[in-house]
Amino acid sequence: MSDNCASHLNVLPRHVAIIMDGNGRWASRHGRARHSGHRAGVRSARAIVEASAKAGVEVLTLFAFSSENWHRPADEVNSLMRLFIEVLQREVEALDENDIELRFVGDRAQLPTILRRRMADAEARTAGNTRMKLVLAIGYGGRWDMLQAVQRIATKVRDGELDAGAIDQKLLDRHTSMAGLPDVDLLVRTGGEYRISNFLLWDLAYAEIFFTETLWPDFDSAELDAALDFFGQRLRRFGRTSDQLEVAAD
Ligand code: IPE
Ligand code: IPE
Ligand code: MG
Repeated sequence: MSDNCASHLNVLPRHVAIIMDGNGRWASRHGRARHSGHRAGVRSARAIVEASAKAGVEVLTLFAFSSENWHRPADEVNSLMRLFIEVLQREVEALDENDIELRFVGDRAQLPTILRRRMADAEARTAGNTRMKLVLAIGYGGRWDMLQAVQRIATKVRDGELDAGAIDQKLLDRHTSMAGLPDVDLLVRTGGEYRISNFLLWDLAYAEIFFTETLWPDFDSAELDAALDFFGQRLRRFGRTSDQLEVAAD
């Protein structure tokens, strides 16, 4: 959790999070099956990981599969799980060579065993890499995240490890999946929907939000630059007045 101090124009977001939406519509516009939209989406994700690292972003979080996406037809869910397994197999070496640390957030309980194993291997292999942290949200829901944090805290209180009076925002933050990472500065959502879809509810508290009609497979580094420029133009007041920010900048 970041301390909310006012920040000024033309800065780079430390933490960018992206809701990668629109793969299915991209596929149908190209007369293809939804699965080929997801494959095209992986190509976009790879390009955006590279571009973000080059730009100097510290943390990039990508929403790949939500807790609600389990309700999709079984063949789409299965093909997405197979795609995640294949992509991890193929990409982890290159991520490691590029000094990128991989971390996964989400409820792993329902994921296929091989995928869970690959995720753990990828985290172990890339741990300590410093160029950029790449967080992949798979089976993730913001409400799930808050619930698991509360459950873990309640267990500690019950077991006498924690005094209920010591629960504050920092402690709650330390029990969320994104513990130790800065708050999201910039949220990007592709695909023309104007909603959060149960993504990072806690961490988005003060995110600037960039919505674009572009479908995820068409989102490229030029559009990432546009999102970063948009961020650079925002005056982040964190509840204060613009006058207060001017005084602080002097
Ligand atoms: C986002 O694209 C990828 C996932 C949610 C897995 P969609 O599959 O939601 O694409 P649209 O919204 O149907 O176009
Ligand atoms: C959000 O996209 C989840 C991911 C991008 C992984 P959805 O396509 O699932 O969102 P809704 O259902 O339209 O809100
Ligand atoms: Mg969608």
